[in-house]
Amino acid sequence: MTKDIFIGEISNNEEIQGNCFLMKVILPASFCDPQPGQFVMIRISGLYEPLLARPISIYSFSRGKDSCAIELLYSVVGKGTQILAGLISGSQVEIHGPLGRCFEIDEARKNIVFVAGGMGIAPLSLLTEHLCGDKCFSQSPMTFYLGAKTAKAVVGLDKLQKLCYNINVCTDDGTLGKKGLVTQAFQKDIKKYSPVNTAVYACGPKEMLKSLAKILRGSNFISQVSLEERMACGIGACLGCAVAVRDNKGALTYKRVCADGPVFNLREVIWQ
Ligand SMILES: Cc1cc2nc3c(=O)[nH]c(=O)nc-3n(C[C@H](O)[C@H](O)[C@H](O)COP(=O)(O)OP(=O)(O)OC[C@H]3O[C@@H](n4cnc5c(N)ncnc54)[C@H](O)[C@@H]3O)c2cc1C
Ligand code: FES
Repeated sequence: MTKDIFIGEISNNEEIQGNCFLMKVILPASFCDPQPGQFVMIRISGLYEPLLARPISIYSFSRGKDSCAIELLYSVVGKGTQILAGLISGSQVEIHGPLGRCFEIDEARKNIVFVAGGMGIAPLSLLTEHLCGDKCFSQSPMTFYLGAKTAKAVVGLDKLQKLCYNINVCTDDGTLGKKGLVTQAFQKDIKKYSPVNTAVYACGPKEMLKSLAKILRGSNFISQVSLEERMACGIGACLGCAVAVRDNKGALTYKRVCADGPVFNLREVIWQ
């Protein structure tokens, strides 16, 4: 067992919205403070089917005197998350982390824009919390574009509303907020933001990030995106999560989402 695999105890695991769960895991005090954008690999202690752990972003973190706690916001899409959803308080889970490269904060870019699709809210919520607590950004305008298929798929809004005043909710079917894609809402507003003062942070389905890349192409906006590839080892050993990127000379190369990411510069990723 490597030193950053911990046995955690679930203190709460409830369905907060159709098919979407919020799990709180109590961990030993030796678990490091995670940075926004980092994730954990989670698996059930002693369970070998499914064998592989699943990557989930850290949605919130708190530290007590003798322990700490992480919250994971996840939707049930397959076998692994289905098993997680069935775990009751007191169950033990193996938590490997915090893993991956976090969002880099540029203190010169005081205007912050977040673009989240679906469960992409999870890492961006921790980032929002982090920036709100940073005195460098205490007066910074922050605007959140949050998109989902339908009202029932909008999660994490309560927490966000306590942190950020300017939230634009969009749903594909118009059941909550504006009807349409979150990237369309951002594109409509883009002239409000100065490219040199603004940092755009995004996480969501690949198609959403692809559209964002198209919108920002040719502009001076700096954008960092968190990618969600399928993962096996989570620590850079199997190359199962490789994505095509351009290196600083423009040549095509591959990077591992788990170890070199999950946060990348939007412009380095090859989206085709
Ligand atoms: C760095 C990172 C952070 C993540 N954070 C979160 C989070 O905070 N909340 C959350 O709900 N999910 C998150 N995910 C996605 C999550 O890991 C997958 O949904 C989960 O592993 C699916 O496991 P499963 O066994 O339930 O589904 P599987 O049975 O493995 O797959 C079911 C279906 O989901 C698809 N799928 C599986 N993994 C992914 C993926 N990574 N991206 C797109 N489609 C996938 C499969 O192609 C298949 O169609 C994150 C992924 C990464 C890489
Ligand atoms: S999941 Fe194995 S290298 Fe990324």
